[in-house]
Amino acid sequence: MIELRHVKKSFGEKTIIKDVSAVMQGGKCNLIIGSSGSGKTVLMKCLIGLFTPDSGDILYDDRQFITMSDDERKEVRKEIGMLFQGSALFDSLNVERNVMFPLDMFTNDSYKAKRRKVDEVLARVNLEKANKKFPAEISGGMKKRVALARAIVLQPKYLFCDEPNSGLDPQTSMVIDKLIHDITDENKITTVINTHDMNSVMEIGDNIIYMHQGEKEWEGNNKEIIFSKNDKLNTFIFASEFLRDAKDMRMLEVTGKIDNDRNMDELINNPDASPFIDGNKQ
Ligand SMILES: Nc1ncnc2c1ncn2[C@@H]1O[C@H](COP(=O)(O)OP(=O)(O)OP(=O)(O)O)[C@@H](O)[C@H]1O
Ligand SMILES: [Mg+2]
Repeated sequence: MIELRHVKKSFGEKTIIKDVSAVMQGGKCNLIIGSSGSGKTVLMKCLIGLFTPDSGDILYDDRQFITMSDDERKEVRKEIGMLFQGSALFDSLNVERNVMFPLDMFTNDSYKAKRRKVDEVLARVNLEKANKKFPAEISGGMKKRVALARAIVLQPKYLFCDEPNSGLDPQTSMVIDKLIHDITDENKITTVINTHDMNSVMEIGDNIIYMHQGEKEWEGNNKEIIFSKNDKLNTFIFASEFLRDAKDMRMLEVTGKIDNDRNMDELINNPDASPFIDGNKQ
């Protein structure tokens, strides 16, 4: 579990993170969502110590991350895996060497032991035969899987993923999401994911934090988000009229106001007469 208490971060005159408190739950995928520029990456960089917040506390399983000694922080950092936006693989290293990199940095393991761990994690992301390939020779989805293998090779307790689906098609995105979700669940990792992706929100949003202009505007899970009446959140999530209608239909379905296809057809053909339950159709 990671806890944020009243975290604030400014650059010059501009306050980017405005007093954010939240709990990232252990063993779950914690999603930070919000429009471009809302502060997701800055918040994640504060969490992993790339930025120091101006005030507030960050606790890694009750360990005070900001005020702890440099040596203690180094120990926590060893427990962190990071999947960077754009994968950030080393172009001059093959897949195996990319995944081995954290082991080279942080362990004194023999090559044989490191190779065994690399093969294990590559198998976990279904990339058994890619060891000798270079980043330029593999697809975007494969690169993300290599980056994920690298992020988990030190068996992290905390996993951070900044936009893991950017640039991927919806189906490949879902493969990556499922891998992250399953790995989180199997190893009881506290996973934090920055995303814009609605599919991810619905598929793996165990705990969702919606950021709006540097503030935590809403939090809940993927079941609650459907029913939220927060206008800012709904404008962000259900950006198109089509999605807003789909949300309204789903609400009616769940509350039993639509119980068969005939009613659904009526609703589609005569939307003005539809009994939207909170009248918030825009
Ligand atoms: N190092 C920095 N110095 C000054 N301002 C910065 C710095 N990093 C980010 N910002 C500003 O902080 C704000 C939030 O940026 P951030 O990258 O966190 O947004 P984001 O929500 O991750 O957006 P996106 O969805 O596009 O990735 C932006 O206005 C950005 O210009
Ligand atoms: Mg970002």
